[in-house]
Amino acid sequence: MNSEETLAQITNEVAVCQKCALYHSRKMSVPGEGPANTEIMFIGEGPGFYENEQGRPFVGAAGKFLDELLAQAGLKRPEVWIGNVVKCRPPANRDPLPEELAACDEYLERQIAAINPKIIITLGRYSMGKYMPGVKISAVHGQMCRVGERFVIAMFHPAAALHQAALKPAILKDFAQLPILLDQARAALKRSAQAVDESKELPTQLSLL
Ligand code: URA
Ligand code: SF4
Repeated sequence: MNSEETLAQITNEVAVCQKCALYHSRKMSVPGEGPANTEIMFIGEGPGFYENEQGRPFVGAAGKFLDELLAQAGLKRPEVWIGNVVKCRPPANRDPLPEELAACDEYLERQIAAINPKIIITLGRYSMGKYMPGVKISAVHGQMCRVGERFVIAMFHPAAALHQAALKPAILKDFAQLPILLDQARAALKRSAQAVDESKELPTQLSLL
């Protein structure tokens, strides 16, 4: 299966999934969307009211603000993948429970493996917790860290910034800095790939000496 087929397969599985209690209240699951060959994945929390109606991520108020934030970063929505840590709407938009996060993580892990992005941008505490457990978002927002073969940037959740006016300038600034961080991440990954290539060549070079 190529990566596009894998993503389509996950979408089909999520549509009928009953692995956690959130399936009871869902109208539509929200698997996430975006090109299979994108460099960048955005990972939010879970579907809200409008997402549950439409089966698409970030289509409500937070989504409108995310579109503005993407524009700040010079990115267009169709260029990136956007999804969530849980694929079904928690009742009344409550926080997802640990057992729901654990049950749904398999899908997100398979989506990440299929896309193999250079950069993961977490939106809010729950997706940040996957990569930086126990860290305070106020201490690390907008900063990039390396996690294995990719980079992770933790951002405030757009909905949090809509509700707390004080966060808005910070999130706008963090997204405006994204192009610089993206260039740094691409350059660092290119350097590591070259280093691996050079180390592969080493035995031949040595035998020539
Ligand atoms: N908030 C999220 O975290 N995800 C969505 O898809 C919509 C709102
Ligand atoms: Fe399945 Fe995830 Fe929906 Fe739970 S939230 S029912 S694990 S798709």
